[in-house]
Amino acid sequence: MPFAVQNSNIESVIITSALPYANGEIHLGHISSTYLPADIFGRYLKLDGKEVYHLCASDDFGTPVLIETEKKKIKPEEYVKYWHDKDLEDFKSIGIIFDSFSQTSSRTNIHFVQYVFNVLKNRGLIHEKQVIQYYCEKDLKFLPDRYVVGRCPYCDATDQYSDLCEKCGRIPDKILDPKCAICGIEPVKKETNHYFFKLSNFENELEKWLNENMLLQQDVKKYVLNWIVEGLQDWDITRDISWGVPIPNTNEKKDKVFYGWFDNHLCYISCLIELVGDIQRAKEKWNDSKIYHFIGKDIVYHHYLFLPAIRIGINKEYRLPDLIPTRGHLMLQNHKISKSRNWYIGLRAFVDLFEPDYLRFYIASICNYSQDDINFDWNSFEEKINNELIANIGNFINRTLTFIKKYFDNKIPRPEEYDDEDKKSLEEIGNIGKIVGGLIASNEIDKALKSILNFSSIFNQYFQKKEPWKYPQGSGSTLFVSINAVRSLSLLLEPFIPFSVEKIWKQLGLQDNIHEQRWNTIGEISLNPGDKLGDIEPLFKKVESDNIKEQINKLNDR
Ligand code: MF3
Ligand code: ZN
Repeated sequence: MPFAVQNSNIESVIITSALPYANGEIHLGHISSTYLPADIFGRYLKLDGKEVYHLCASDDFGTPVLIETEKKKIKPEEYVKYWHDKDLEDFKSIGIIFDSFSQTSSRTNIHFVQYVFNVLKNRGLIHEKQVIQYYCEKDLKFLPDRYVVGRCPYCDATDQYSDLCEKCGRIPDKILDPKCAICGIEPVKKETNHYFFKLSNFENELEKWLNENMLLQQDVKKYVLNWIVEGLQDWDITRDISWGVPIPNTNEKKDKVFYGWFDNHLCYISCLIELVGDIQRAKEKWNDSKIYHFIGKDIVYHHYLFLPAIRIGINKEYRLPDLIPTRGHLMLQNHKISKSRNWYIGLRAFVDLFEPDYLRFYIASICNYSQDDINFDWNSFEEKINNELIANIGNFINRTLTFIKKYFDNKIPRPEEYDDEDKKSLEEIGNIGKIVGGLIASNEIDKALKSILNFSSIFNQYFQKKEPWKYPQGSGSTLFVSINAVRSLSLLLEPFIPFSVEKIWKQLGLQDNIHEQRWNTIGEISLNPGDKLGDIEPLFKKVESDNIKEQINKLNDR
């Protein structure tokens, strides 16, 4: 895609979504914590006329990938490419659009990571240290992170990874009864040389940055500041494995790479470098933009401390984040989502059953802007779709369109003199764009959606009160005002349910691309008397209770 340098008066925004590991399927938990909120935000800003770049990539490196590919006896490159492509397809299927979806293993990223490392090293922010690591004398390998399994020192669960107990969710300080994850024998301890990033040097600057940045969520900031008070440890940024970004200019020949968390967040910047084609222009663009990193709460440490410290460490060559919207986990039927216990819903499986917009609508409606966990509940899904999306929004749009078709030959009627009800409704149209836009801009997407539903229900009441069916020929004002409200609704809903909005737009008979419309026209009365509407088709299909019961049973049978 050629990159056009755009008008510098236009505000530009870079949105990143946390990079999914190229190691498994995208599920509803990922969508609700990160990708949908980022997508809604980006779609809104685009309609609002901003220059927006939504950047993401697959997170290709790390021990989980390597272990999987060793088991399957395939090349890591092939394995991550498979997941990269599949994830991208899944995202597309629910309308999550990226302006770039790269890979952390891309050449651009590898070069950029090595560049950053060299800058840090030259500035004295990297030091070398001997560390003791587990080593398997049978496999002749160091065993970092997931390569060691054992008993959790906290909850006594066996068969847990040395870097994460999946039972209790803690990171074991020292795993008990350690075993090599490949062959099962007990590993020995061996010395190796590692690089450390001097995170401890940055305590003051990080504290200052956190305190000065008023946009960051207060509750997150509070506990991050607490970590600083407790003291930051220098970070081991190397691993003795073969899959990762190679460490530049070292004397050690083999199997030493950067830790995945050293390279992955740098890929946010690499995505832009790839997009604009060269590093100088990327830097200018990055520094001219607002930077928003969307994440889930489990990666707060990396994004609020590690990432800004590295950007400060390279002399702020690249702007620090302006905002890091952080959200909690999605529970499923009030239980923690877990892939290993098969308690999850894959994106693909969902989209095979229901409209992608139903998922977007439902998740947006429960997606508050906080770190609290939210809950996916099949019954409330059914209720929200049938009673809110369909009975409220769908109903208003449909009754307006069918009425005009039936009584006015599918042409927008001319309004008569407005009465008080009409005037009040026109005022609603004039005000709603600002209200909803403001809420999306401040990341309150659940509240934004609520306001839209409220708007729609006001118009249902208006229609009901005016009783146009009693005297259709004198109902020009009602239908004229209503059909313009449908146009406003389309724009308001585009960030939330883009697939359905495409259909509504066509039914309104509008030829121009909705993406070229601007948010600030939501309050305008721009459909004119005499304008011809398109063909009407049902917009939504009701969710059947039987289908919902089946989904609940399927989960419980696992
Ligand atoms: N892959 C990581 C995870 O799923 C997220 C990486 S986000 C990045 O937890 F910023 F570090 F790239
Ligand atoms: Zn445990």
